[in-house]
Amino acid sequence: MTKEEIAEKLNIEKSTITKTSAWAAKNSADLEKYTTYLLKGKYRAVNDFSPLAKLALVINALPYVYKKYSDKNIDEKIFFDTFSDIAIWCENAREQYGVEGLVNIKWISKHISMKIFRIGRLQYEFSRFAILPHAGIKNMLSCPYILGEKCITLHIPQGEKLDNDACKKSLGLADSFFSEHYPDYKYRCYTVITWLLNPELENVLGNESNIVKFGKLFKLLGRVPDSDMNERRVFGYKKDRKNYKPINALQKYTLERINKGLPLYSYNGYRDKTNN
Ligand SMILES: CC(C)(COP(=O)(O)OP(=O)(O)OC[C@H]1O[C@@H](n2cnc3c(N)ncnc32)[C@H](O)[C@@H]1OP(=O)(O)O)[C@@H](O)C(=O)NCCC(=O)NCCS
Repeated sequence: MTKEEIAEKLNIEKSTITKTSAWAAKNSADLEKYTTYLLKGKYRAVNDFSPLAKLALVINALPYVYKKYSDKNIDEKIFFDTFSDIAIWCENAREQYGVEGLVNIKWISKHISMKIFRIGRLQYEFSRFAILPHAGIKNMLSCPYILGEKCITLHIPQGEKLDNDACKKSLGLADSFFSEHYPDYKYRCYTVITWLLNPELENVLGNESNIVKFGKLFKLLGRVPDSDMNERRVFGYKKDRKNYKPINALQKYTLERINKGLPLYSYNGYRDKTNN
């Protein structure tokens, strides 16, 4: 498959692909040099490139990654699901900065270097067990995992509901995926750092909410103040506080805390791998 065919399948706009191809044609030496960087998970050298140039590099890397997936017998669906994130982050770049292309190259370089996979509803990243500050002595003592040990960190892509059955199915698939394709990567648990684990949300959204059910899949460990992230995820990137018009209980709760000057947090939680 050519890079253009892959990019189209990933729902990257055709006109944007054409512009990245024009950049690639004019910068062939840089294209090859920095694609190699990205394939190794390096991104700093291209951090200051234009969004279209970054996207050109990412698109150029795709056939190489496609081949690596196929060499490892990883399902093509996982490839396309994983890289569906490119369109999401192009959309975020448009919303946040008003630009065409990709800004967050650090994030997508993880996908290119095969450190992150999307398996069903959730994304999974090779990582190390972390404990956020303010963990509380009780949470720490009951946690069987050790700071820095190998684990898999979950991420929750935007773009669709957080259906609980889909999340549980994804976790089951992840167990099989890593044991089949990365048998040497021994890990005992999944971790997550997110605003979605806020225990107060049960009172705000009720226990039938997807967010609340998702939170119950994990044991809570610690938290850090992360008001910006909460605000961005609930009201979008514009941060136009005067014009916020909360339309649901989550937005009302978030705005009330912002207006009272109360912090919002990111929480970390963990969940045992099945049969660990
Ligand atoms: C994670 C996510 C898909 C959950 O959405 P969901 O499946 O609708 O969650 P719930 O069913 O629990 O939602 C309960 C209510 O809160 C609303 N809601 C949920 N997430 C919301 C958000 N990010 N912003 C505004 N409102 C939101 C829902 O529309 C629903 O409102 P309603 O009762 O009027 O229908 C959604 O929050 C999202 O797309 N977030 C962006 C990705 C993200 O935050 N990832 C984590 C990064 S650390």
